[in-house]
Formats: sequence, C-alpha cells, structure tokens
Amino acid sequence: MTKLLKTPAGWPTILLPRAGVADTTDLDAAVAVGAFDGLRRAIRDLGAFAVVAAVGAARLRGRGGAGFPAVDKWRTARSVDAPRRYLVANGYGADPASQTDRMLLLQNPFAVIEGAAIAALAIDASEAIIAVRAEDVDVIARVAAAIGSATDAGFLGPDVLGSGHDIEMSVRPVQGAYMLGEETVLLKALAGKRGQPEQRPPHPAERGLDGMPTVVHNVQTLAALPWIIREGSEAFAAIGATDSPGTILVNVRTPTGDGVAEVPVGTTLRDIVKLGGKLPAGREIKAILVGGPSGGLLPAELLDTPYDFGPLRAAGAHVGSGSIVVVDDRADLVELVGVLTRFCSTEACGKSIPCRIGTRRLAEIVGRREAGLARPTDGRDAIDLAADIVASALCDHERLATLPLTSGMRYFGSEFEDARRPAPVRTEATHG
Ligand SMILES: Cc1cc2nc3c(=O)[nH]c(=O)nc-3n(C[C@H](O)[C@H](O)[C@H](O)COP(=O)(O)O)c2cc1C
Ligand code: SF4
Repeated sequence: MTKLLKTPAGWPTILLPRAGVADTTDLDAAVAVGAFDGLRRAIRDLGAFAVVAAVGAARLRGRGGAGFPAVDKWRTARSVDAPRRYLVANGYGADPASQTDRMLLLQNPFAVIEGAAIAALAIDASEAIIAVRAEDVDVIARVAAAIGSATDAGFLGPDVLGSGHDIEMSVRPVQGAYMLGEETVLLKALAGKRGQPEQRPPHPAERGLDGMPTVVHNVQTLAALPWIIREGSEAFAAIGATDSPGTILVNVRTPTGDGVAEVPVGTTLRDIVKLGGKLPAGREIKAILVGGPSGGLLPAELLDTPYDFGPLRAAGAHVGSGSIVVVDDRADLVELVGVLTRFCSTEACGKSIPCRIGTRRLAEIVGRREAGLARPTDGRDAIDLAADIVASALCDHERLATLPLTSGMRYFGSEFEDARRPAPVRTEATHG
C-alpha cells in the first residue's frame, strides 16, 4: 500500500499537511489553519488581474508533467472573447504506479478546491470541474463532501464571498485507460464522448469544453495557488529551483516500499530516493525509472540530477506522472524496457500512424532482445525509429513512449547490445 513518506524536518510544506489530519473534509478545522484565506485575499485584496500577476511572479509551472507556466494558459483563456470559460482540475492520475494526485485529493481536498476557485476567478470561469477516476469511490466521496461544505459556507456557489462572481464546482468521475489523462482526451470524456488526442492549436485554453476557453491544470498546480496568494509570490519563488519554484509530489517506489512525499522542486534524485527507504542488504541501485511508464531509465551516476523539468529532460527522463522507481542490481533492464515499451504501444490510441506503428516496431525490437534474437542492425534501427516517432508527434505520448528504450540504450548500452543473451525468466510487470 502506498503511504505518506516522512520528509526531513524543515522541508517546506505547501501541498500536503505534515501531520496526518483525522478528517480532511472537516471545513472548520481546515479554515482554522488557513484554508480559504487565499481565496478571501484574492477576492478582497487583489482581484483577477492581480491574481494573474501574482501567480506569474511566483513562476508556477504546471505539475501535470510538461512544466508549462501556469499563467500562460490563463492569459490565453482570458484573451479569447467568449460567453463563458471553464476550469478543469485534472485529478485522473493516468499512471496507476503513481498515487501523488490521489494522495493530494484525499489528504488535502480543500487546497485543490480553493485553488480551483482562485484559478476560476482569475480566468473568469463560472464552472469548475474536478475530474477523477470513476473507480476511485473514496476520492469521489471525499471531494464531493468537501465541495458540499465549501459551497454551504459560501466559498463556492453564487456570489462567492460577496464578490459578484459565481463558481459552480463539481467532482466528475471519468473512466478510461492511460490516454484519458491527456487533456484533450479528458475534455472529450467530460463531454460524454470517447476520444483521442486533438491536434493543437487550438489549445483547450482557446477552445475546449463546449468550444469555450478551458484551462486544464493538474490538481497539484491548483493546490499551490492558495499558498501563493496567502504567503506571496516572493515566498513561493524562494522555495525549490530558481526556474521552477515550489514543491512537488513524488511517488517513490523501492524494492522495500512505496510512498508519496512532498519535496522542493530541484531536490536531487539521491535525496528523494533516500525517502523511499533502504535497499535490501547487499543490493545496489542499478537504475532509476523517472516519469512513469514512459519515463527514462537513469543510472546511479546521475543520482545528483535535480528533480526539475529542465534537468530531467536533459538527462533523458521527465517529471511525467511523478513516479520514481528504484531498480536494484537484480533487475533485467531489457525485460523492464520491454514491459514499458509494450505498455506505451498498447496504450497509444492509434490516431497517428507513426505512433501506432512506430511504437509497435520498437516493442518488437526490444522483444527480439529479450528473446536473445537481436539483429545486428536493431540498435541503429531503434534510434532512427525513435527519432522519426518523436519528430512526428501528434501528442506528448508519442514523444515520451520512446524514452524507456532510448534512455536504456544510452545508459545501459551493453545490456542492449548483447544479442546472444539467454531468454530471461519472466517476472511480474512492475508498471502499468
Ligand atoms: C498520455 C498522457 C497522459 C497524461 N496523464 C495526465 C494525468 O493523469 N494527469 C495530469 O494532470 N496530466 C496528465 N497529462 C498531461 C495533460 O495533458 C495536461 O498537460 C495537464 O493536465 C495540464 O496540467 P498542468 O498545466 O497543471 O501541467 C497526460 C499527458 C499525456 C500525453
Ligand atoms: S501520438 Fe499516439 S497516442 Fe498520441 S494521438 Fe497519435 S496515436 Fe494517439
């Protein structure tokens, strides 16, 4: 079971309360420790323009994986002349191996709700939707209860805190596979349609739900907003990495444990991995899979890489789903890459041919390696194919699906080059 990991005393806390809270839907208890102070300040002291300016000055980047500056979407949505706008909180959590967003929704639902209300105010949206997995009844019940009490208290609903601004908020269960977390697919699901990713532009911030400007943010991005408005942009910008301030949730899995922790952006992988606990006696780290099923495999020599959007991308991984899996020296990396590449290929929606066919071919190449039947040209073919797939990307899945193999070949080349390796004994898949 995924647990809340203990972080060192003195590490900043923005998203998750440090101590376990008995009832996270108790509004009075939450208000007593500052919940909805940010919304009050946004309405009474700032107004929409100043909120946008404050979040811009805080340099908040989206936590949904790509690290896009949050206010850029807000400015786009505001610039479109439209009768209404929508705010969507992406709490789908596409990667089942990462419980970061689920943990946030369970442990601090009011932060997501307050953040969604602040963002709705900033983009002049009167409807905000928190999208979650349909099968996760605990999350649905908790978020629905928290929205209910926040509405009763006047933090949501008509004329929020006397501002003249209405914010109708709801929790919406959605059901689907991995691709449903992608924002254009999610918007189709919310509209009751089956979907595949859409070519951009137009971006959802220009044309989304009902053809109206729609800002989609990961729930963590939204949960940071109350703190920024309450404590100030400078205080936020002083935490974490200069270019990517704030904190972020990570799901660290080691051979001995699995848990979620809040860490300042820019914390080294080494310090994050330590939070996950020790390896079994006598074992050493062989690789760290960073970013989920389409993540990159990094070697132990890169443990000092900052957990931050730019540095991870430069190393051949990405923030992605927030998942960090520590693999010890018993692991067969070719087999692991096989599992991941097949997952990415199976989950590709099939809309674009380079992704549909290309990821299948990549999976075949890894499959040949796994079976000890590699061809001499396979390495070169895989690199060329990955480059072609990335160059024709219609959605981010296509670009990222190549990462397990390309990072594996880059850092663990000898394991991938040995064409005569014996067929391995299959072990259980650890992802997806
Ligand atoms: C295959 C795929 C799956 C995704 N799954 C999620 C998800 O589960 N949750 C999420 O917030 N973003 C997910 N994203 C990213 C979203 O498309 C979108 O960029 C994000 O929700 C925007 O939030 P942000 O501005 O806070 O980063 C996924 C993207 C891809 C390509
Ligand atoms: S790139 Fe892949 S996952 Fe994305 S739309 Fe095309 S086929 Fe679907």
